[in-house]
Amino acid sequence: MTDALTTQQSQALPFPQARTCPYHPPAGYRDVRQTGPVGQVRLYDGRLVWLVTGHAQARALLTDPRLSADRQNPRFPVIAPRLAELIRRVRSPLLGVDEPEHGVQRRMLIPSFTVKRTAALRPRIQRVVDEALDAMVAQGPPADLVASFALPVPSTVICLLLGVPYADHEFFEGRSRQLLRGPRAEDVESARQDLNGYLRDLVRARRSRPGDGLLDELVAEQLEPGHLTEDELVSMALLLLVAGHETTANMISLGTLTLLEHPEQLAAVRTDPGVIPDTVEELLRFLSIADGMARVATADIEVAGVTIRAGDGVFLATSEINRDPGAFPEPDALDVRRGARHHVAFGFGVHQCLGQNLARAELEIALTTLFTRLPGLRTTVPAEELPVRAGDVIQGLDVLPVTW
Ligand code: HEM
Repeated sequence: MTDALTTQQSQALPFPQARTCPYHPPAGYRDVRQTGPVGQVRLYDGRLVWLVTGHAQARALLTDPRLSADRQNPRFPVIAPRLAELIRRVRSPLLGVDEPEHGVQRRMLIPSFTVKRTAALRPRIQRVVDEALDAMVAQGPPADLVASFALPVPSTVICLLLGVPYADHEFFEGRSRQLLRGPRAEDVESARQDLNGYLRDLVRARRSRPGDGLLDELVAEQLEPGHLTEDELVSMALLLLVAGHETTANMISLGTLTLLEHPEQLAAVRTDPGVIPDTVEELLRFLSIADGMARVATADIEVAGVTIRAGDGVFLATSEINRDPGAFPEPDALDVRRGARHHVAFGFGVHQCLGQNLARAELEIALTTLFTRLPGLRTTVPAEELPVRAGDVIQGLDVLPVTW
């Protein structure tokens, strides 16, 4: 290692960083942006990687085939020791593969996530939201909004969609948390094995006694004709189960907190329910909870005056990309009427979130119903006293104490 590299490494800010306010980007990401739209940060093991904070550069890079999502590439960047071994050993479907394999896998799932299919789910989502609120109101006030509402709603919805029994929710919610956050490598590995075992048993049971969920469709249309192996189907189901509840739960809790902290914006939503779809887009932009999409370069790429070399790791800091003043005027202000449709909170390019229509429907229904039914809803702890998560690429709240 050269002296120059050592100095560079010691000067580069660490990645990922914790947020100091649950709804603003970590301060250090803004510092990186001051140096240009593509800067450098340092991972836990000292490795220097690129951090993209510019909106135009992010969209160009996320559609550039020289940037790979292949997690089994030995140069794929890893954010924490707990994930280092697993990420390379275990082949992750969709998110972890490039074209053309990625397209083949994605096409198997697309019919279940269209706007039309999601629209048809809306009455069921409304029922799930109403029942969660009934239960919360029957037991409170006060309540922890995460445990009583933000988590059960998307968790129940993804169970309905997949055909997974909600009765097992404590098991898979707990294991999903452990899979994402560890804290130790052995915790991540045992969570993965438990979830895999659970889903494998479910798939086998469905082969003899089919139900009417997405899992059953995949068994009939992909597994039985041999387009997917059982292992592949199980890892796909695992991705959907985890991606389908963790992210949306974080958006519901953080979205609620953010609106409560911006009463003039909440008043606009209350007086004009037509603004709710735009409010959801603005919250997605403002909160950017999936904050650090990872890629590895497979060839040299010139961008914004720097050269990303083949083998370099790249992270896309969604929270800063979505606050690029060139793309969003007054980016640090929450403005529910902004019409922020071009944010990258769901990613961009071929890996753009498959569940985005579903997530939007859940957020619209959850937030509208919550604020209509509980007009006096408020937090019992100031935002600055809520515990923030350690630096990670998925942001959110573990608890949100509320009363009404
Ligand atoms: C508000 C909630 C959500 C947010 C913010 C979110 C965010 C994202 C982001 C940023 C990506 C792209 C990652 C990358 O390019 O590296 C992604 C991909 C994905 N998301 Fe979501 N997501 C949400 C909800 C959901 C839901 C409800 C589901 C499914 C049931 C889901 C399933 C997926 C899948 C399968 C992918 C991989 C797509 C691919 O690689 O082709 N997500 N999500």
